[in-house]
Amino acid sequence: MNIEAVNSVNFWNNIHTNYDRETIKVDNWLDEFSSIIDSAAAPILDLGCGSGNDTLYLIKKNKNVFAVDQSENAIINIKRNFPEVIETRTMNMLDGIDYPDNMFSIVIADLSLHYFSDEDTKSVLSEIKRILRSEGYLLIRVNTINDVNHGAGEGEEIEHHFYRTKDGMFKRFFDEEDIRRVFSEFNIFFCEEQKMMRYRSEKTVYCVGMKNT
Ligand SMILES: C[S@@+](CC[C@H](N)C(=O)[O-])C[C@H]1O[C@@H](n2cnc3c(N)ncnc32)[C@H](O)[C@@H]1O
Repeated sequence: MNIEAVNSVNFWNNIHTNYDRETIKVDNWLDEFSSIIDSAAAPILDLGCGSGNDTLYLIKKNKNVFAVDQSENAIINIKRNFPEVIETRTMNMLDGIDYPDNMFSIVIADLSLHYFSDEDTKSVLSEIKRILRSEGYLLIRVNTINDVNHGAGEGEEIEHHFYRTKDGMFKRFFDEEDIRRVFSEFNIFFCEEQKMMRYRSEKTVYCVGMKNT
């Protein structure tokens, strides 16, 4: 692992310390896509699942959920809190997503695709396309350039809208043009800037629904 990857894993392992299922908040952003989720025949992948907010939403709907994250601590918590999850894996998505072609009906990547350069994002997206069924869906939320409460525009801009922060981490903030360019290999059917309240201060995100092409 390179130093950036080690920093990122350490950072998230420190965040994902012990917590119980009762403390996990669900903020219902996936309600927008409920008909797609309700009719999913194949499993759903929670990619960068963290503490499992979306995993919890999905298992409450009796869905078959696979949950993966680079943070071992996140996965330890998911295993303990959500025995309903079909499979968990500690996995760095930059190293490929180690599942067979066409395995999933839906990939959910909630706040987990805004840490990468253009090139790395492209390689992650090609893996997502590969593991998704041809008519499958990618549902995401990412930082927007207006997410000023959470560091938008701060640090050294090393690529368009992609920053190295003062603690050596990387963060990307999207505008709508970025979304349409970066995810152009998918058919975007929903793209909306939204406010979310899961954190102490309001967070501004793009919520995007896309279909595999
Ligand atoms: C802001 S949290 C979001 C967690 C969860 N999806 C949610 O919405 O609560 C970002 C998560 O993405 C994970 N992540 C970041 N980079 C990753 C990578 N390269 N591979 C796998 N997971 C990654 C982090 O470990 C962290 O758990």
